Amino acid sequence: MPVPKAELHLHIEGTLEPELAFALAARNGVTLPYADTDALREAYRFSDLQSFLDLYYELMAVLRTAEDFTELADAYLERAAAQGVRHAEIFFDPQAHTARGIPIGVVIEGLGASLDRAEERYGISTRLILCFLRDESAESALATLEAAKPYLHRITGVGLDSAEVGHPPAKFREVYEEAARLGLRRVAHAGEEGPAAYVREALDVLGVERIDHGLRCMEDPSLVDRLARERVPLTLCPFSNVRLRVVDTLAEHPLRTMMSAGLLVTVNSDDPAYFGGYVGDNFDGVRDALGLTEDQLRELARNSFEASFLEDDEARRAR
Ligand code: ADE
Ligand code: ZN
Repeated sequence: MPVPKAELHLHIEGTLEPELAFALAARNGVTLPYADTDALREAYRFSDLQSFLDLYYELMAVLRTAEDFTELADAYLERAAAQGVRHAEIFFDPQAHTARGIPIGVVIEGLGASLDRAEERYGISTRLILCFLRDESAESALATLEAAKPYLHRITGVGLDSAEVGHPPAKFREVYEEAARLGLRRVAHAGEEGPAAYVREALDVLGVERIDHGLRCMEDPSLVDRLARERVPLTLCPFSNVRLRVVDTLAEHPLRTMMSAGLLVTVNSDDPAYFGGYVGDNFDGVRDALGLTEDQLRELARNSFEASFLEDDEARRAR
């Protein structure tokens, strides 16, 4: 039995497996520029974050109807349940869909239809986190939050993702202030490819409660001390970091060093269809590559519930 865990860093669009991409393409009359699933998998060789994002956004063309989003989420939840996930806080990228003419309501209601049955079908509690694309403008982020207002009952928080370098957190101060006024929780990707200074800025300017990735905080010892003291969770994604060349090999991943430094770290899958495995596979991968003990694996699983947006009693039940 896999250890019960929460997954806190998961882009639902990054769970689009090649087989589902081709099935949706056929259903929706979309032509993909790949002969078959093998040819598509061949394209999964990334040199950095941007080379991945180019393919990630390209494949989203197959997602068109609410049912498509429902099927996508169902497929993720089924795989996640098999790997011990009891709670999932799921990111989605509305601007990547509205830019293609898909209304935000189609995306949210489609995902919502799956999440509504997730407890009953898969034994997984869920939350939805709306992410802003940081390589789009601050105005576009504000317009996206405005468009999401009729659906806020379905949304727990906001996040920030896409190409990091050159798009510092402070660019999104206003939309995060508005999100806070609306009672939304706040997280942001920072310190994946971008510098440790972006981690500080996400905390100080955007008021985030959790940092997605945050790896590069290790370059700033006083920041590490602060993150440990304030128990700011970091949602690490080991397979992602190797595939996007943030670290050279899994054996060189700083996860263990980060745990020893007293950081509240969690293990997650990011975009599992693209990076070679779901969250349980990431747990197994770091166990083998870094020689983590059963106690350390249990600590990571415990951290995932502590770092979640579940209330204490809900987290106890999920564990
Ligand atoms: N969007 C999907 N996956 C991402 C990642 N790892 N970093 C930034 N944006 C993303
Ligand atoms: Zn991510």
